[in-house]
Amino acid sequence: MKFNIAILPGDGVGPELSVEGIKILQKIGQKFGHEFILKYGLVGGAAIDEQGTALAPETLQMCKASDAVILVSVGGPKWDDPNAKVRPEDGLLAARKGLGLFANLRPVFLYPELVNATNFKPEVVRGVDFIVVRELTGGLYFGRPKKRWTTATGRKAVDSMLYSEREIERIVRVGFELAQSRKKKLISVDKANVLESSRLWRQVAAEVARDYPDVILENMLIDTCSMRFIQNPRYFDVMVTENTFGDIITDEASTLAGSMGMLPSASLAGVPVEGKRIFGLYEPIHGSAPSHAGKNNINPIATINSIAMMLRYSLNLPVEAKAIETAVENTLKDGFRTYDIMSEGCTKLGTREMGDQIAKRI
Ligand code: IPM
Ligand code: MG
Repeated sequence: MKFNIAILPGDGVGPELSVEGIKILQKIGQKFGHEFILKYGLVGGAAIDEQGTALAPETLQMCKASDAVILVSVGGPKWDDPNAKVRPEDGLLAARKGLGLFANLRPVFLYPELVNATNFKPEVVRGVDFIVVRELTGGLYFGRPKKRWTTATGRKAVDSMLYSEREIERIVRVGFELAQSRKKKLISVDKANVLESSRLWRQVAAEVARDYPDVILENMLIDTCSMRFIQNPRYFDVMVTENTFGDIITDEASTLAGSMGMLPSASLAGVPVEGKRIFGLYEPIHGSAPSHAGKNNINPIATINSIAMMLRYSLNLPVEAKAIETAVENTLKDGFRTYDIMSEGCTKLGTREMGDQIAKRI
């Protein structure tokens, strides 16, 4: 089959990681007889420098005309001025909003080989395998008012955690669908003891639950959840939460997987249903790691596993997706590591060499 893929490498380690991702995609193409037509675009700081905006309208158009988008990372010290009119992150947010990508799936999985790469006791983390469904186009990131101003008594600023019931309903539904395909348990994370938006969230979640009588819904406060993540991470299977909470807890969760460099993500424009192709954008959850850029040492697994997610959700190629995931697994089993997950007795590789080892096993 033929697929159109838009690639936005972005900043920092983005370009070198996109090379590894494409290496894997091409290997899949050869092995399974698919053609991936790649179109490149700028995003983030790279786009600001070249085009004066973090995501040009033509780039957004190119993404819309594709079957899926790969975006690696944006940002860096060069564009970090707090008074800047435009920031690299604006490009990522514009892509999420402009493409309607409301559902961000962040699987957190600890490979058995990496138990010693975490800071946790093996008996706490062994077997960690859960998925966070993060709402991606609402809440504090996009709610209005959102501004800074000066008053007679000093400067003020506001961000708004705004949610409509429609926005809550569709994201909670994604959580239920995934829970149904896994352990039939959904944890909805909120701050309903304080926030109005969370109280609406809880109400809507309970209403959607009626459509999924076989799934158990548990509400959990975000502060409790943050503690339980560290204390007993295996308690979790599928969780659903709003934008900012999801941002924070997935960075926390990455420590359970050994490194930020391990975690992929999918941002979808619809509810994932088996056998159906859903438009999406795929990115590692880590940032642009500017201090690692160009050093050939960054871990490509988060990017490569994001490509596996793309094959599964946007291209409906589950066998091909599994082939990538198995290749990653076998590469780790064979003792190959990047610096961030290195442990004694293993072979330390650079970004390109890790990509080669994974490609070889497909
Ligand atoms: C993420 C990142 C982004 C976010 C930043 C880069 C805007 O932290 O994808 O988790 O906050 O959503
Ligand atoms: Mg984040």
